[in-house]
Amino acid sequence: MTDNTKTDYSGMGHSTMTNGAPAPSDRNSLTIGADGPILLHDVHFLEQMAHFNREKVIERQPHAKGSGAFGFFETTEDVSKYTKAALFQKGARTDMLARFSTVAGEQGSPDSWRDVRGFSLRFYSDQGNYDLVGNNTPVFFIRDAMKFPHFIRSQKRLPASGLRDNHMQWDFWTLNPETAHQVTYLMGQRGLPRTWRNMNGYGSHTYMWINAAGEKFWVKYHFHTQQGESYFSNEEAARMAGEDADVHRRDLFESIERGDHPKWVMSVQVMPYAEAKTYRINPFDLTKTWPHADYPLIKVGVMTLNRNPDNFFAQIEQAAFSPGNLVPGIGLSPDKMLLGRAFAYNDAQRNRIGANFHQLPVNQPKVPVNTYMIDGPMNYHHTGAAPVHAPNSGGRPWADDTGPAYDGWETDGDMVRQAYTLRPGDDDFTQPGTLVREVMDDAQRQALVDQVAGSLAGGVREPVLSRALDYWKSIDADVGRRIEEKLRAGAASEPAQGMGEG
Ligand code: HEM
Repeated sequence: MTDNTKTDYSGMGHSTMTNGAPAPSDRNSLTIGADGPILLHDVHFLEQMAHFNREKVIERQPHAKGSGAFGFFETTEDVSKYTKAALFQKGARTDMLARFSTVAGEQGSPDSWRDVRGFSLRFYSDQGNYDLVGNNTPVFFIRDAMKFPHFIRSQKRLPASGLRDNHMQWDFWTLNPETAHQVTYLMGQRGLPRTWRNMNGYGSHTYMWINAAGEKFWVKYHFHTQQGESYFSNEEAARMAGEDADVHRRDLFESIERGDHPKWVMSVQVMPYAEAKTYRINPFDLTKTWPHADYPLIKVGVMTLNRNPDNFFAQIEQAAFSPGNLVPGIGLSPDKMLLGRAFAYNDAQRNRIGANFHQLPVNQPKVPVNTYMIDGPMNYHHTGAAPVHAPNSGGRPWADDTGPAYDGWETDGDMVRQAYTLRPGDDDFTQPGTLVREVMDDAQRQALVDQVAGSLAGGVREPVLSRALDYWKSIDADVGRRIEEKLRAGAASEPAQGMGEG
């Protein structure tokens, strides 16, 4: 990231107005007599008040609360047989920005509320910015982008009271049983990471990689923390929400400040292109993982975060990540969620930051940009008198790919509105059941029972309550029974607010 926009204040004897002329006073407004009324002559006062009213941008919807740091990615292994992307060639070192976040909470909300955590990465590569905008879980709640605004609203606040509401959350989840896998992760320990440094990250979706020979592969990204996984208990998380609402932001900043630079190892699972058609689950279904026994992890390199932002607003708040920011050698996939996301982010940022958000230093690629998208509010970089139309006779290059897209896939059929067809033997409950029975240990299963029972006891009413018990019995009969028993015994207590999001 190049930032030539910082002001050097050394040697300045006073502050200035925005036109550069000396400011008269930052302490006293201009009045008639010491006790008299303020004058319109005080342009500095008026400008200052007007700018103050505009000094925030609207918060992200969702993922409003977060922070991040800069660093670099080093490709340590040869994966050139899978991708030609320059940043993933052995020996490449690429500058990065990472941002971590909660999903449902607003700007000032506690970092330790139970939630999925965002794991956004930007690689300032030699071929342009590559963004991987993932979470600390390998799956997601839904598999059609059409459901996303409804899902997020159900995790945010009630229209009348402005309160978060367990009943609304469980209503959405139980009416959309494909949520079961991610809800199981959320209600388990991953919903309460101790720090951002102690959590894994996932691209979650299936992406395409393309090698120099044009061969295509389907990949899933994994980032394993080298700090060790660590989680808060409910009690610790609730206490931290009161004691230090910014506990995760503080931890990352302070650890980098003291030279303790967190690292994650990046690996990929790779599926040969043709196997997507025959694999036993739909590999583009974002609610599913690919078992490692079928597709083992292949190491690619290491991410290190070693530099704090020197201005939170300019470098974190105005950072604009997008799953649509791809580079040659990396493509999208037929995942309906991913395709919805490829549009959603830049549009949110046009609204949140402004039409030319990509010109801000934190969002600028390190390579030159030759875009015919020009002008607009706050335009900073411009093309001088160069042609504004393509094709043109004035010598300004334009693009002209024709024929099959090198990162495309074949598709056929009628236009339909229809959920993914499940392959024989596939369903919404098998993988979360495996997570409960084979990945969690007894203590984690007990914590899950307590957490879910506590959440359901926190205001969930019929018919949602019965649906929620059936939902858990479908995930695992024993865990479902224990949740019901605990609930009926009235032993469950209401958990801290902020029990679920994505
Ligand atoms: C169709 C589904 C989705 C839509 C429409 C959507 C939309 C959005 C929007 C509009 C933002 C705010 C962007 C901004 O203002 O800069 C956002 C943020 C974010 N989303 Fe999604 N999202 C979807 C699914 C997902 C999934 C599946 C993941 C993870 C696998 C995810 C991870 C994130 C993260 C980490 C951020 C924060 C980005 C940052 O750090 O600036 N989202 N999402």
